[in-house]
Parts: sequence; structure tokens; C-alpha cells
Amino acid sequence: TGLVTLDSGYGNTAAYQSAITYLDGEQGILRYRGYPIEQLAERGTFLETAYLLINGELPTVDELSGFKNKITQHTMLHEDVKRFYDGFPRDAHPMAMISSVVSALSTFYQDSHNPFDEEQRHISSIRLLAKLPTIAAYAYKKSIGHPVVYPSNDLGYVENFLKMTFSVPAEEFGLDPVMADALDKLLILHADHEQNCSTSTVRLVGSSQANLFASISAGINALWGPLHGGANQAVLEMLEEIKAQGGDVESFIRKVKNKEEGARLMGFGHRVYKSFDPRAKIIKSAAHDVLSALGKSDELLDIALKLEEAALSDDYFVSRNLYPNVDFYTGLIYRAMGFPTTMFTVLFAMGRLPGWIAQWHEMIKEPGSRIGRPRQIYTGVVQRDYVPVEQR
Ligand code: CMC
Repeated sequence: TGLVTLDSGYGNTAAYQSAITYLDGEQGILRYRGYPIEQLAERGTFLETAYLLINGELPTVDELSGFKNKITQHTMLHEDVKRFYDGFPRDAHPMAMISSVVSALSTFYQDSHNPFDEEQRHISSIRLLAKLPTIAAYAYKKSIGHPVVYPSNDLGYVENFLKMTFSVPAEEFGLDPVMADALDKLLILHADHEQNCSTSTVRLVGSSQANLFASISAGINALWGPLHGGANQAVLEMLEEIKAQGGDVESFIRKVKNKEEGARLMGFGHRVYKSFDPRAKIIKSAAHDVLSALGKSDELLDIALKLEEAALSDDYFVSRNLYPNVDFYTGLIYRAMGFPTTMFTVLFAMGRLPGWIAQWHEMIKEPGSRIGRPRQIYTGVVQRDYVPVEQR
């Protein structure tokens, strides 16, 4: 149809110009605002990275402490927000709970819906960054029937989240610094990834000038699917399935190659990376380090290593450029930390939040930005005449 071309899954269509994240899929390069992901993960912190993504520059000492202070002031949830959790079934998936509660934040902060007011944009962003860990921890507490633990403003971002998640009122909480460092690093590695499905969703919803809470809630839902952020949960389920079948990696590989029941090697493949995923490289070595530092051994890690080795030496996967992606090893680390599989994608969402926020800001501020509105190629009947129901 003339000017409109079909591009399934937007494999070849750039919908935006962006100065946030540089990704070279051929060479496996990922940089936030020009900084290599390896350097940020090794030497930076998650909040610094969030500041960088949103503001374009790494913060000075004063800027960082101002940013941290503001976030700290907003970690509490309105007490009425707790009542949402009462209404969810006990076995509700935490991704459903957190996207609902993030959406509901727009009912509590009706004074900050205008995307064109810089101050409102700023305060909504701070509120989201501050409250998502609390929202996530409450979802976990709901799932295990424990009382919620309120935020502690003397703790750092990740430490506070770990305390709200794993502490109980009955006992003193001993924070494990290895765990906190590892989680901070993982959040950095997830913080942005240019126009992936959830980020594009945030931009698309935001392009209608919907408020930030509504846009981010939509992004969380997009992330939930097993082909996107939900892959980290799916990887663990796949490894469990292989374990239950006596650790038979080869027969699982056969199942994938025969596309039985649509089976895929979860945690493998990527739309853009065609040689390797630089995040997976860092996470693979972190998985070894964290598991040994936490004094855990995991049979599933051995299965994962075997599976990776088998796939990387199999022409089926090599010829399709299928390599481990960010989700392949993260689940093993989260599991060693004590998170249930259903929380894995929530951790991805916490990591991705600054990227979503930065991309939403960039879109809103772009001069001449237009509502997102893909075209289609119509394949239905072009015209026919109405027939009254009794004559059909
Ligand atoms: N296992 C087996 N075969 C695969 C896989 C896989 N994981 N991924 C792609 N293929 C095959 C696919 O069957 C197709 O083969 P054929 O040409 O014979 O039909 C070919 O590779 C191309 O696949 P595609 O579906 O066109 O590729 P895509 O770019 O649309 O999909 C993907 C990218 C990430 C959705 C896909 O690789 C996949 O489903 N991976 C498993 C889920 C996963 O790990 N997702 C996390 C992605 S990274 C982090 C994130 O974004 O959240």
C-alpha cells in the first residue's frame, strides 16, 4: 500500500532518535551515555547510574548526595496503598501487583500528572525510584503472609530493599554486603537497553501524554512476558524441568531444535546482539563469585553450564546467532540470594526503571515529538454490504 511498509516486530524500523544508550549488536557493546557498561558495573553504583541515565552526566558528590536524599525522603508508601495488597489473592504474581500499585500511584499524586511541567516530571520520577523497592518488597511480603517492613532511611537503596524484603519484626536483620553489592551490580546491568519492548511501550503510552505512573505501569506489564523480562523466571523453570528429568541436557536441546510445544532455550537469543550479550558475560562470572561468596552451590548452575556448552557447540544455535543473554544466569544469583522465582522479573523492573524514566523524559522533551501510531497493511475484506440478521 504505497508508502507503508511491513516490518514485523519492528526489526528494521527506528521509531526514535535517542542519546541515552549506545548498543552495537555485532560487537556486543553496550554503553550508557557513552560509558561502557563494564566500567559502570565494576566501579559505579546503581543510583549514580540512574542519575546518569536521567540527567545525561554522572553526578558530582553534591549532586549525588542531593539525589539520594530526595529519593530517601520518598520511600514510604501512603498507608492506604497497603490496602491494595489486601485485595490481591495470596498467590498473585508480584509483577501483576507491582504494575497495579504503580498505576494506582497516579491516584495518590494527582498534582503531578502534567508531562510538560518540569517540576512535576521531576517529582514523579523521584517518587517512582523511591517507592518501587517498597512496592516490590510489600508484594513479596504479601505472597508469604508476613507483615510489611517499612523503609529505613539510614540505609542505601539496595540495602533498604533487602531489609524490607528479608527482615522480620521478630528478629534483628543482618545485612549481607556481598548480596547488596551483587544486587546493585545487577541493577546497573539492567538499567537501560534502548528501544526494547517495555521501553518502547513506556514511550508509546507516554506519547499520548499519559502521566509517568501510567506509562511506567504499562512498561512493567510489557516486561512481564517470558520473551522479555519474564525470561529470567522462565530460565529457572527450564533448569528445574531439566533437573527433574535427571539433568538430561541433550534431550532438552533436541526438544528445542524440534520446536516441540514451541520450546525455546530460555535466556538465549537476542534481537540485536548477534555475537554475545556483554551483560551476560559479566553476569556469568558474577554468578560464580556470588554463589561461592554466599557459600552456596547449586546443581542448577551445573546444568546451566552444561546447557550453555551444548548449545554453543551446536550448529543449530550457532547458525542462528543464539548466545546466552542477560537473563540466562541472573536467576541463579537471585535464587542464591533467597528470592523466589516469581520475584525475578520484579528485580529486572527495579533495574530498568531509570531507563524507562530517562526515555520517557527524552521523548516528552523532544521538539516536535508526535503520538506513536504505527500503520498497518490491511488484509481483510475491502467492502461488502450489510445483510439483516434474519437473512444471514
Ligand atoms: N531458543 C531456540 N530457538 C530460538 C531462540 C531460543 N531462545 N531464539 C530464537 N530462536 C530461533 C527461532 O526459532 C528462529 O528460528 P527459525 O528461523 O528456524 O524459525 C530464529 O531463531 C530467529 O528467532 P526470532 O524469534 O525471529 O528472533 P527474535 O529476534 O524475534 O527474538 C528473542 C528474540 C529474545 C525474543 C528470542 O531469541 C527468544 O525468544 N529468546 C528466549 C527468551 C529470552 O531469553 N528472552 C530474553 C531476551 S534478553 C532480555 C530481555 O529483553 O528481557
